[in-house]
Amino acid sequence: MKTKVIKISSKEPEKKIIQNATKIIKNGGLVAFPTETVYGLGANAFDAKAVGKIFKAKGRPADNPLIVHVSDKRMLNSVVKEIPLKAIPLMKKFWPGPLTIVFRKKKQIPNVVTAGGDTVAVRMPSHSVAFALIRGAGVPIAAPSANTSTRPSPTEARHVYDDFNGKIPLILDGGKTNIGVESTVLDLTTKIPILLRKGKITKKDIEKVIGSIQVHVKKTKGVVKSPGQKYKHYAPKASLILVRGGIQAVKRIISRYSKKKIFIITFSENKDKYSGVHEIYIFGKKQNTIAAAKNFFSLLRKCDKNGADIIIVEAVIENGVGEALMDRISRAASMIV
Ligand code: TXA
Ligand code: MG
Repeated sequence: MKTKVIKISSKEPEKKIIQNATKIIKNGGLVAFPTETVYGLGANAFDAKAVGKIFKAKGRPADNPLIVHVSDKRMLNSVVKEIPLKAIPLMKKFWPGPLTIVFRKKKQIPNVVTAGGDTVAVRMPSHSVAFALIRGAGVPIAAPSANTSTRPSPTEARHVYDDFNGKIPLILDGGKTNIGVESTVLDLTTKIPILLRKGKITKKDIEKVIGSIQVHVKKTKGVVKSPGQKYKHYAPKASLILVRGGIQAVKRIISRYSKKKIFIITFSENKDKYSGVHEIYIFGKKQNTIAAAKNFFSLLRKCDKNGADIIIVEAVIENGVGEALMDRISRAASMIV
């Protein structure tokens, strides 16, 4: 299959391009598209066969459910059985935007989307291309992040192309995504809401609206509440070492692995502090966690492409999106020092 990459305006998505993309979706095909968080790999959520293609293309385990993307309230109602009271102010405040809510599902949503479960994760993206695509297709779009399973999430069309060239017909290139880490996932089907995945919208942001919630803690045995959390994630090919101990700790790691091809991801303030390494990549300024989140996955892919053995990543400040970013860096890490 030939994979087309088509540039599309994020300000005013060209109608013609959207029409071509929606035609593919309606015919049971896959389209990769930008959202405000990361790129998604989409199919008609009502079409079990089309959704099956997503799992196959990504190499995704069948027990890891997908997020369904909607463009309006009517579409939400076609997917979920009921809307809990707490969902209403949350949707009002954060939709469209990077908050995914887990609801009870309607039976029209095929089991392949929800991995056989009776709940469905839904979000309304705020990116104009994602929005135009869903509205144009006229159906909810099931879409995981558009990366091969276990690879870093894609924040540019080029990343999607690297993973799916020859496997999908179309990638809509809307440029670099704005947030760079995936949406916050909140389960509202339990008595006390549970935060299943951290994102730009934080626990505090949510609690300001609906009061106290719980944070999901990883279980090693028994039922897994958020299946996505149990798999190895965002893994670069190199070994990633997350360093919390500052400049001196980084220097110790450099000397310990001096025979290896070491890459460092750090802040602009520290870039002249290190020597004897292959490359130094910059998150941005230390205080700018928004920039760090935006750049992280892309930098990981760059390290892999340029043949890193070891990637040293300096810890970021855990405020706002920084907390979600530290969660992603920790998941990618094989060592934390
Ligand atoms: O920002 C995002 O959410 C991106 C863009 C494309 O929208 N999508 C994304 O999808 O990150 P994915 O498939 O990479 O991550 C979905 C996460 C997984 O951790 C999955 O286990 C969880 O959501 N999830 C999906 N359905 C669920 C459900 N019914 N109950 C609990 N967790 C669910
Ligand atoms: Mg993903």
